[in-house]
Amino acid sequence: MLVILNRYFYFLLIGLFFFIACKKSANQTPQLPTPAATLQGTASFPMGSAVTSYNLLNKYNYFTTLLTEYNSLTADYEMKFDQTEPQQGSFNYTAGDAIVGFAAQHHLRIHGHNLIWHQALPAWVINFKGDSLAWENLFKNHIEGEATHYKGQVASWDVVNEAIRDDNGALRNKDVNAGDGSIWRQHLGPDYIARAFQYTHEADPNALLFYNDYGQEWGGPKLDSMIAMLTKFKNRGIPISGVGFQMHIDIHVDTARVSSALKRLAATGLMVHISELDISLNPSNDQSLVLSNQLLYQQAALYQFIAESYRANVPAAQRYGITTWEFSDGDSWLVSWLKHKDWPLPFDSDYKKKSAYYSLQYGLTK
Ligand code: G3I
Repeated sequence: MLVILNRYFYFLLIGLFFFIACKKSANQTPQLPTPAATLQGTASFPMGSAVTSYNLLNKYNYFTTLLTEYNSLTADYEMKFDQTEPQQGSFNYTAGDAIVGFAAQHHLRIHGHNLIWHQALPAWVINFKGDSLAWENLFKNHIEGEATHYKGQVASWDVVNEAIRDDNGALRNKDVNAGDGSIWRQHLGPDYIARAFQYTHEADPNALLFYNDYGQEWGGPKLDSMIAMLTKFKNRGIPISGVGFQMHIDIHVDTARVSSALKRLAATGLMVHISELDISLNPSNDQSLVLSNQLLYQQAALYQFIAESYRANVPAAQRYGITTWEFSDGDSWLVSWLKHKDWPLPFDSDYKKKSAYYSLQYGLTK
């Protein structure tokens, strides 16, 4: 008898528990799963990353994170002169096509990078001997060849990259320091930049055309000279659509100068693309530096600031987007190319979100 009463009491207790639990939950709004907020889903403009075809095609975590978080791609190096025209007149678009094909398959924007730069040149250009007409032809043939090949596949181009000196704002010309000069300025004269835009526009009239550079956050002669050049181009009717503000910065950056540069570039009326964002935690490449929460939080605050300053200083119609230069620390050019000890991006080398990711996302929303 006692056992039966016990059993009934047991079931009564269970029943009471469920009754209370159901009663409670009936009064509560059910905790619905919030759609996973992503960078591209949060931003009101494209969020991009530099990519390599190897990583896209070989790293599972890489391309799943990329597809989730981003909607714009820039080829890190595989659409540059040395890769696409390794011999004069002989073009190789295989790697670039792999990236462009991936973007088309997944409905991502492609920002072409870059047609003319004083670096990433093949030996045949560096050693080329010819008169100014011969130089003009090789210059025009490269631009026309690549812009025609990617016509209708790329939304935009960095037509000319880093043509202005860091120190005095003059155009790079004869080699001041090794690698600082511009073979293009030396053999084609100062107006080569305008002609690069004209040749690209003739080859692909629908592509948006950008001048891309770094160091705008310094202010001073480089930024002044860039804005003067962009304004002149606009007044001359040169087919330029926008300016790339690379934003390779570090945790010591002067945030007021970043905001002022964004405002001044926006005042040209051109599109403004934050085109190569990364935030170094170890600009002096101190090999004894240990990654700390303090550094990570400083970096997070800056990612949030960049997103907020971009939205505050660039009118919505002029925001071409924010592109980080890769998205995972382990793939950063600072780490993979310069072999620095650094952690500059929103994802760690295991493709896990850092505090920088969350703060960047918050800065996109506020
Ligand atoms: O992947 C190949 C490898 O297979 C080959 O064995 C090796 C040796 O030739 O080269 C490897 O490719 C290198 C690539 O980086 C990937 O590491 C290229 O040689 C090397 O030139 C390339 O460097 C790139 C550099 O531009 C020059 O194109 C960097 O990744 C890239 O981050 C850097 O990006 C520049 C922007 O275009 C302009 N703004 C500054 C930015 C950083 O310097």
